Amino acid sequence: MKKYYSLAETADIVGKSKETLRRWDKEGILNAVREPVSNYRVYRKTDVQLLLGSMFDEVIENEVSNFVEPEYEYTVLELFAGAGGLGIGLEKAGIKCVALNEIDKWACETLRNNRPNWNVLEGDIKDFNFSEYRNKVDVVTGGFPCQAFSYAGKKLGLNDARGTLFYEFARVVQEVNPAICIGENVRGLLSHEKGKTLQGMISILDEIGYRVVPVKVLKAIHYRVPQKRERLILVGVRKDINIDFNYPKPHKRIYNLEDALKKGSLFDTDVPKSSGAKYPSYKKKVLDMIPPKGYWRDLPEDIQKEYMGGSFYLGGGKTGMARRIGWDEPSLTLTCSPAQKQTERCHPEETRPFTVREYARIQTFPDEWKFAGSLAQQYKQIGNAVPVNLGQEVGYAIVKFLNNYYSDKFSKVNKAYNLSR
Ligand SMILES: C[S@@+](CC[C@H](N)C(=O)[O-])C[C@H]1O[C@@H](n2cnc3c(N)ncnc32)[C@H](O)[C@@H]1O
Repeated sequence: MKKYYSLAETADIVGKSKETLRRWDKEGILNAVREPVSNYRVYRKTDVQLLLGSMFDEVIENEVSNFVEPEYEYTVLELFAGAGGLGIGLEKAGIKCVALNEIDKWACETLRNNRPNWNVLEGDIKDFNFSEYRNKVDVVTGGFPCQAFSYAGKKLGLNDARGTLFYEFARVVQEVNPAICIGENVRGLLSHEKGKTLQGMISILDEIGYRVVPVKVLKAIHYRVPQKRERLILVGVRKDINIDFNYPKPHKRIYNLEDALKKGSLFDTDVPKSSGAKYPSYKKKVLDMIPPKGYWRDLPEDIQKEYMGGSFYLGGGKTGMARRIGWDEPSLTLTCSPAQKQTERCHPEETRPFTVREYARIQTFPDEWKFAGSLAQQYKQIGNAVPVNLGQEVGYAIVKFLNNYYSDKFSKVNKAYNLSR
């Protein structure tokens, strides 16, 4: 059984770069040792697990709160709304969804079943005109799927992006003219086409009258979410508004799987029972051998070879294969299907994937939020979502911005009115 992790594996497991690990070695935070046979510098599995425990068990000092009360009734138009992760988060922060657009019929069904009063516009965004909302909503949000642009000239303009879903997002922002627009995406957008895609998006928003705030990748674990998910946030502020947008401050407390599934400070009850996917018997036999926080390296070598097939000889960490999550760590990022070989997330005690309700808890959806469609459709909607608590924290940052915007605007109007009398 494997007792050591390589530098690459350790970096992957603790979520830090190799450089950080080398520094930690010098500083005595996590010491590398020589592997007896190969003499390579490696890390003892026990040391890594001890460190992981302490990383996620941080002392709560100076806990922050991003909460802010809306001073007026704020509204949002939510594009690419999925099953409503961001929508509910914004609602919890006090921002009202005036309309939501989504193409997937099951996600729309979910939105309608849970919020009969929400105006769900089902269909391809390309077929909708949103000018009836012009100057009537404060925010336009959207998690547009990322696609490459074709570059004609040096600086990308709105028309060069035609045919992409980002074009549709920008087109709607232009149509609706909100004070602020928020795009959300995967971290990979930073490096997509060597950064050119993101640069193109920033220049398009600039062209249509929005100043883009420095882009940030928010780690969900810092925003009351028991999952190591990351979301890139792209914020555009209408250029006539001279108010800063500040990202929500990270919380010190990191929640783990136990907080997600058991009664505690995140949820008032244990996770409700629900249906879930099952492993085929061969996979179950293999995963039965994996301890919490372990992965394929914890298998006997002959089974490693059999389970991994060709990948066994390819090298690299592949720490997502045959992975079992531990109670005292946040879950790894949930994907759209719960039992994929490369991104396994097995339950800590039982050898099975997370159930639908467990999936929803890890994404901080409330237990009352029901998902429509087949089991596979439900997992897909949950796996696609912005975690609700992350959406709520971003919502507070928007509310703060809008409070400042409106108080500034009204005080200017009052001043002008008084001067004219
Ligand atoms: C990353 S998900 C958004 C998740 C959502 N923000 C949430 O928090 O639950 C992207 C969504 O865009 C939708 N979508 C893709 N193409 C679309 C189109 N042409 N028109 C409208 N929606 C589309 C997908 O069905 C998917 O639900």
